[in-house]
Amino acid sequence: MRAVLGVGGGIAAYKAAELVRALQKRGHDVQVVMTRAAQEFVQPLTFAALTGRKVVTGLFSQTGAEDTLSSAVEHIAVAQENDLLVVAPATADLLAKFAYGLADDFLTTLYLAFTGKVVLAPAMNNAMWEHPATRANLEILRQRGCSVVEPDEGWLACGTIGAGRLPDPERIAGTVDSVMRHKKDLTGETILMTAGPTQEALDPVRYISNRSSGKMGYAIAQAAAERGARVVLISGPVSLAAPLGVELVSVRTAQEMRQAVLEHLEESTIIIKTAAVADYYVAHVPQQKLKKTATRLSLELDPTPDILAEIGQRKGDRLLIGFAAETENLLEEARRKMISKRCDMLVGNLVNRDGLGFESDQNEVEIITRSGQTVHAGPSEKKEVAERILDQIATLRLSLRAVDTVDTPA
Ligand code: C5P
Repeated sequence: MRAVLGVGGGIAAYKAAELVRALQKRGHDVQVVMTRAAQEFVQPLTFAALTGRKVVTGLFSQTGAEDTLSSAVEHIAVAQENDLLVVAPATADLLAKFAYGLADDFLTTLYLAFTGKVVLAPAMNNAMWEHPATRANLEILRQRGCSVVEPDEGWLACGTIGAGRLPDPERIAGTVDSVMRHKKDLTGETILMTAGPTQEALDPVRYISNRSSGKMGYAIAQAAAERGARVVLISGPVSLAAPLGVELVSVRTAQEMRQAVLEHLEESTIIIKTAAVADYYVAHVPQQKLKKTATRLSLELDPTPDILAEIGQRKGDRLLIGFAAETENLLEEARRKMISKRCDMLVGNLVNRDGLGFESDQNEVEIITRSGQTVHAGPSEKKEVAERILDQIATLRLSLRAVDTVDTPA
């Protein structure tokens, strides 16, 4: 695969050298384009040595008869020759120029002429990253189909702590992989999903819930829709925007979630139950707010319906995928739940590790199937983990179809 790596003028420009290596390791033939500011941070020679190709440093810099890239419409030629444009670090200035179609140097002109996939890896000071102008520019670019690798949090070159660090080159290269692999392998499927926590009322103002953010389920819903599936997402209360192209049904309690799942069961071909459903609820919620007293308060809790187990009994030939959030014995627990709830696949994740699982943007999971196969995914962005889970679901679907075809000759 031929890729252009656009290097912007940020302190993280030096990390782009490692990214060249990571992309090459994955079989990409890399052409580097540097902005003028980037050349203040790193010498073009570094990239020329790594790629064995002349680095493009300006709109009018390529002269000389022997220069293969030289031509008055060179940016068009580079745009046509490459399938992928990765920009790392993508500075606030580059994002603004891309968003508004300014084309005053080679990289911005190339972006406008480019018709292939674009991956942006922003890196900047955290205040610049959080500025509404940067947010708005990124949103425009996302809407236009650019993939964005979110920056990491940590110490920034300016001496502050926050979001804005260029992610690890391997993570950027991993996103490139998934973008390039992008396929429509779930076309024709209707995926019924649940995500987020549920809230079980104790009285009119209080509830029991859990720390699920819904991020994993929303990432799967979004990725599945992008891969061609119709997605019905039944979501507990979360503070996330509805994924594009997904039908969202909002619920609050386990009972409501069960009801919504049953209503959409018939039309579904795959069911993915990411939700962290409350295991207990108060059957008789008082009409009035519980009064504070100086004595101990005991709550009587009843088990909620286990939606996954119920669907397992009546799923027919639908694929059923459960999740298990565990704090210990992950694989054993996941296997036990897969069998007892009659799932075709179960995704287990440990939720007691810092920076992974509940509330976090990253995850690390074990995907296990009934055939006994175990696939490890992460630690990586939930979007990336979502793609790996869907890869396994698509593979399982294909293998079951193949068995069907063998079993039922025409
Ligand atoms: O048994 P446990 O709650 O750990 O199982 C987790 C899996 O079961 C998840 O897929 C979750 O969505 C599902 N579940 C459910 N209904 C419940 C509890 C869990 O569907 N009441």
